[in-house]
Amino acid sequence: MSFRYSPSENIALLRESATIAVSQRAKALKAEGRTIVDMGAGEPDFDTPLFIREAAAKAMHAGATRYTATEGILPLREAVAAYTRSYGPLAADVVAQDVVISNGSKQSIFNACFVLFGPGDEVLVPTPSWTSYYEIVQLARATPVEVYGSRERDLKVTVEDCERAATPRTRGIMLNSPCNPTGAVYSPDELRALLELAHRRGWWVLSDEIYRRIAYNGAAVSALQVAPSRENLIVIDGVAKAWAMTGWRVGWTVAPREVTRAMTAFQSHATFHTAAMAQHGAVAALVNRDEADRAISEMVAQYRTRRDAGLAVFATAPDLPIVRPDGAFYFYVDVSAACPGDPDAGTTFAKRLLEELGVAVVPGVAFKTPDWIRLSYASPEADVVEGVRQVVALWSRMRAASGSLAVAGG
Ligand SMILES: Cc1ncc(COP(=O)(O)O)c(C=O)c1O
Repeated sequence: MSFRYSPSENIALLRESATIAVSQRAKALKAEGRTIVDMGAGEPDFDTPLFIREAAAKAMHAGATRYTATEGILPLREAVAAYTRSYGPLAADVVAQDVVISNGSKQSIFNACFVLFGPGDEVLVPTPSWTSYYEIVQLARATPVEVYGSRERDLKVTVEDCERAATPRTRGIMLNSPCNPTGAVYSPDELRALLELAHRRGWWVLSDEIYRRIAYNGAAVSALQVAPSRENLIVIDGVAKAWAMTGWRVGWTVAPREVTRAMTAFQSHATFHTAAMAQHGAVAALVNRDEADRAISEMVAQYRTRRDAGLAVFATAPDLPIVRPDGAFYFYVDVSAACPGDPDAGTTFAKRLLEELGVAVVPGVAFKTPDWIRLSYASPEADVVEGVRQVVALWSRMRAASGSLAVAGG
């Protein structure tokens, strides 16, 4: 008997995460001895604050090595509920029973999509968006519907954009502010308008707030601060980015009670729960507010310095279109003028940038906008400056070359 694998229908449309593919290629080049400036990974380069690591170690030594409740340990769910209540009146009644702790906010998004959407359902995905939204919605056998934001609005979507894309099958909308990959932040009014639309139209809202604490013009608002109601609202957050805890795998949802129950039941058969000691670390991260706020402010100050240093280099190429990021830690850059006529300019550009100049970035095709590339500035300032310098240099060189070709070709 010989076995030949063919993918099941469940994953018929699945593609490997393009962001991970780039960082793997960058790692392979590093292993060959090349010096690589890695602006691909969407991961803080800071260590998790010491007080959090110590709390987790202490918990582990005290026996936090066994299974926990599916939905997470009670002290963590209570800490998340208290943290969420501080958002304001709409969150005032959030309690531990509204919270499910998962293996990173990625699983929280998966849980929510899986229990809310199914075949025939359409989910609006403001585009560009984080690559996994499209895949996760498809894994739930629903259809992601790309809603493109205009350049004048930093690629953010409006009520009109969403209304144009909606059909009677629309069941939900993904929101993400600050946005990966653009760094754009929705103003309170912009977010409120989208939330009111979703409420009016009976759509579920999945508000992914993983970058909320990383913002440069004052805090980015949570959906819970501007929504008309939380009856159709699933807020997703976690410790990965702001607390520099990517590897701990702790994310959560704050959702209506029945959705919470469904996600708990689903998770009980999927991953069960995230690591016990990681949950204890996350309790320390949320309960020690002052210490955590200090650590987060220091990291955000550094991201801001790096952003400003990168923007200063971009300013030397005023024709190169970029979104000015007000949050998260990404530059989103339209490189199409360097590759005229190329339907996947971002990939062409990113390949040359990595292979010739040793700078890793993510092609915009991963975010359904192939003219663009994403640079992460969660790296030391010198690397950010060098990486942006190379992007600008390659873009100028390729644009000049394509311009002269166009002239030569008439
Ligand atoms: C928009 C967005 N949401 C969620 C995640 C996942 O974060 P976590 O590490 O909590 O799973 C990421 C990670 O890159 C992200 O960019």
